[in-house]
Amino acid sequence: MTKSAPHPPPMPGPSPVQDRHPDLARLVDTFYGRARDDALIGPVFASVVTDWPHHLRALTAFWAAQLRGRGTYRGQPIAAHRAMADRLSPEMFDRWLALWQATTAEVMSPADAAALQSRAVRIAVVLRAAIFDAGGPGE
Ligand code: HEM
Repeated sequence: MTKSAPHPPPMPGPSPVQDRHPDLARLVDTFYGRARDDALIGPVFASVVTDWPHHLRALTAFWAAQLRGRGTYRGQPIAAHRAMADRLSPEMFDRWLALWQATTAEVMSPADAAALQSRAVRIAVVLRAAIFDAGGPGE
Protein backbone atom coordinates (compact mmCIF):
# COMPACT_ATOMS: atom_id res chain seq x y z
CA MET A 1 0.00 0.00 0.00
CA THR A 2 1.55 3.24 -1.00
CA LYS A 3 0.92 5.96 1.44
CA SER A 4 1.66 9.52 0.69
CA ALA A 5 4.38 11.05 2.76
CA PRO A 6 3.05 12.36 6.04
CA HIS A 7 2.35 16.01 5.94
CA PRO A 8 4.15 18.11 8.45
CA PRO A 9 1.82 19.92 10.80
CA PRO A 10 0.85 23.38 9.63
CA MET A 11 3.55 25.80 10.62
CA PRO A 12 2.33 28.57 12.85
CA GLY A 13 5.13 30.79 11.66
CA PRO A 14 6.10 30.12 8.09
CA SER A 15 9.19 32.06 7.26
CA PRO A 16 8.78 33.69 3.90
CA VAL A 17 11.71 35.91 4.70
CA GLN A 18 14.01 32.90 4.87
CA ASP A 19 12.58 31.60 1.59
CA ARG A 20 13.00 34.94 -0.08
CA HIS A 21 16.52 35.49 1.16
CA PRO A 22 18.15 32.05 1.35
CA ASP A 23 21.63 33.55 1.23
CA LEU A 24 20.93 35.70 4.30
CA ALA A 25 19.20 32.82 6.07
CA ARG A 26 22.33 30.73 5.55
CA LEU A 27 24.57 33.55 6.70
CA VAL A 28 22.54 34.07 9.85
CA ASP A 29 22.47 30.33 10.57
CA THR A 30 26.21 30.03 10.15
CA PHE A 31 26.97 33.16 12.13
CA TYR A 32 24.82 32.24 15.12
CA GLY A 33 26.16 28.70 15.06
CA ARG A 34 29.59 30.20 15.58
CA ALA A 35 28.42 32.84 18.03
CA ARG A 36 26.84 30.15 20.19
CA ASP A 37 30.08 28.18 20.17
CA ASP A 38 32.19 31.18 21.05
CA ALA A 39 33.64 31.14 24.54
CA LEU A 40 33.11 34.88 25.10
CA ILE A 41 29.72 35.64 23.56
CA GLY A 42 28.19 32.16 23.43
CA PRO A 43 27.11 32.21 27.09
CA VAL A 44 25.16 35.44 26.52
CA PHE A 45 23.11 33.83 23.78
CA ALA A 46 22.67 30.69 25.85
CA SER A 47 21.32 32.70 28.76
CA VAL A 48 18.99 34.96 26.77
CA VAL A 49 17.70 33.23 23.65
CA THR A 50 15.10 30.58 24.29
CA ASP A 51 13.49 30.42 20.86
CA TRP A 52 16.25 29.99 18.28
CA PRO A 53 14.00 29.53 15.23
CA HIS A 54 12.36 32.84 16.12
CA HIS A 55 15.71 34.55 16.63
CA LEU A 56 17.06 33.28 13.30
CA ARG A 57 13.92 34.41 11.48
CA ALA A 58 14.05 37.84 13.11
CA LEU A 59 17.73 38.28 12.28
CA THR A 60 17.22 37.19 8.68
CA ALA A 61 14.45 39.79 8.42
CA PHE A 62 16.68 42.39 10.07
CA TRP A 63 19.52 41.86 7.58
CA ALA A 64 17.14 41.70 4.62
CA ALA A 65 15.85 45.11 5.67
CA GLN A 66 19.39 46.42 6.14
CA LEU A 67 20.80 45.06 2.91
CA ARG A 68 17.79 45.14 0.62
CA GLY A 69 15.72 47.86 2.17
CA ARG A 70 12.54 45.91 2.60
CA GLY A 71 11.06 43.26 4.76
CA THR A 72 9.12 42.53 7.83
CA TYR A 73 11.56 43.15 10.64
CA ARG A 74 9.75 44.78 13.55
CA GLY A 75 12.17 44.35 16.41
CA GLN A 76 13.78 46.79 18.80
CA PRO A 77 17.51 46.09 18.73
CA ILE A 78 18.49 48.92 21.05
CA ALA A 79 15.95 47.96 23.70
CA ALA A 80 16.85 44.28 23.34
CA HIS A 81 20.54 44.94 23.98
CA ARG A 82 19.90 47.48 26.71
CA ALA A 83 17.86 44.90 28.52
CA MET A 84 20.95 42.70 28.79
CA ALA A 85 23.49 45.48 29.22
CA ASP A 86 24.75 43.99 32.46
CA ARG A 87 25.95 40.93 30.54
CA LEU A 88 27.65 42.78 27.68
CA SER A 89 31.12 44.25 27.42
CA PRO A 90 32.94 46.22 24.74
CA GLU A 91 35.17 43.18 24.08
CA MET A 92 32.07 41.21 23.21
CA PHE A 93 31.25 43.69 20.50
CA ASP A 94 34.74 43.29 19.06
CA ARG A 95 34.30 39.53 19.05
CA TRP A 96 30.82 39.78 17.51
CA LEU A 97 32.16 41.99 14.74
CA ALA A 98 35.19 39.76 14.08
CA LEU A 99 32.92 36.74 13.70
CA TRP A 100 30.57 38.71 11.46
CA GLN A 101 33.47 39.89 9.35
CA ALA A 102 34.81 36.35 8.89
CA THR A 103 31.43 34.74 8.26
CA THR A 104 30.15 37.32 5.78
CA ALA A 105 33.44 37.08 3.86
CA GLU A 106 33.10 33.32 3.70
CA VAL A 107 29.43 32.97 2.90
CA MET A 108 28.43 36.04 0.87
CA SER A 109 29.54 37.65 -2.37
CA PRO A 110 32.30 40.21 -1.87
CA ALA A 111 29.93 43.11 -2.53
CA ASP A 112 27.28 41.88 -0.11
CA ALA A 113 29.92 40.99 2.47
CA ALA A 114 31.35 44.50 2.32
CA ALA A 115 27.91 46.07 2.67
CA LEU A 116 26.97 43.80 5.58
CA GLN A 117 30.24 44.49 7.35
CA SER A 118 30.02 48.25 7.13
CA ARG A 119 26.38 48.15 8.25
CA ALA A 120 27.28 46.04 11.25
CA VAL A 121 30.09 48.37 12.26
CA ARG A 122 27.77 51.37 12.13
CA ILE A 123 25.01 49.62 14.08
CA ALA A 124 27.51 48.40 16.65
CA VAL A 125 28.58 52.00 17.26
CA VAL A 126 24.97 52.92 17.99
CA LEU A 127 24.35 49.89 20.20
CA ARG A 128 27.56 50.39 22.13
CA ALA A 129 26.76 54.02 22.76
CA ALA A 130 23.24 53.11 23.88
CA ILE A 131 24.56 50.46 26.26
CA PHE A 132 27.81 51.81 27.63
CA ASP A 133 27.50 55.59 27.35
CA ALA A 134 23.86 56.25 28.10
CA GLY A 135 22.23 56.23 31.48
CA GLY A 136 24.28 56.51 34.58
CA PRO A 137 23.48 54.99 37.95
CA GLY A 138 19.76 55.12 38.61
CA GLU A 139 19.07 55.34 34.88
C1 HEM B 1 28.26 42.01 22.19
C2 HEM B 1 27.81 41.65 21.01
C3 HEM B 1 26.40 41.14 20.91
C4 HEM B 1 25.78 40.19 21.65
C5 HEM B 1 26.38 39.33 22.74
C6 HEM B 1 24.41 40.13 21.19
C7 HEM B 1 23.44 39.29 21.71
C8 HEM B 1 22.12 39.31 21.35
C9 HEM B 1 21.09 38.52 21.99
C10 HEM B 1 21.32 37.53 23.12
C11 HEM B 1 19.92 38.84 21.40
C12 HEM B 1 18.54 38.28 21.74
C13 HEM B 1 17.74 39.27 22.57
C14 HEM B 1 16.42 38.70 23.01
O1 HEM B 1 15.99 37.67 22.48
O2 HEM B 1 15.81 39.30 23.89
C15 HEM B 1 20.21 39.80 20.36
C16 HEM B 1 19.26 40.34 19.53
C17 HEM B 1 19.58 41.08 18.43
N1 HEM B 1 20.84 41.50 18.06
FE1 HEM B 1 22.52 41.29 19.13
N2 HEM B 1 24.22 41.01 20.18
C18 HEM B 1 25.42 41.65 19.96
C19 HEM B 1 25.67 42.60 19.00
C20 HEM B 1 24.84 42.90 17.96
C21 HEM B 1 25.17 43.69 16.81
C22 HEM B 1 26.53 44.36 16.58
C23 HEM B 1 24.07 43.71 16.01
C24 HEM B 1 23.85 44.35 14.67
C25 HEM B 1 24.80 44.80 13.92
C26 HEM B 1 23.03 42.96 16.66
C27 HEM B 1 21.75 42.77 16.18
C28 HEM B 1 20.74 42.20 16.87
C29 HEM B 1 19.34 42.22 16.48
C30 HEM B 1 18.77 42.88 15.23
C31 HEM B 1 18.62 41.53 17.46
C32 HEM B 1 17.11 41.28 17.49
C33 HEM B 1 16.47 42.30 18.41
C34 HEM B 1 14.97 42.11 18.41
O3 HEM B 1 14.38 42.14 17.34
O4 HEM B 1 14.40 41.91 19.48
N3 HEM B 1 23.54 42.47 17.84
N4 HEM B 1 21.55 40.08 20.38
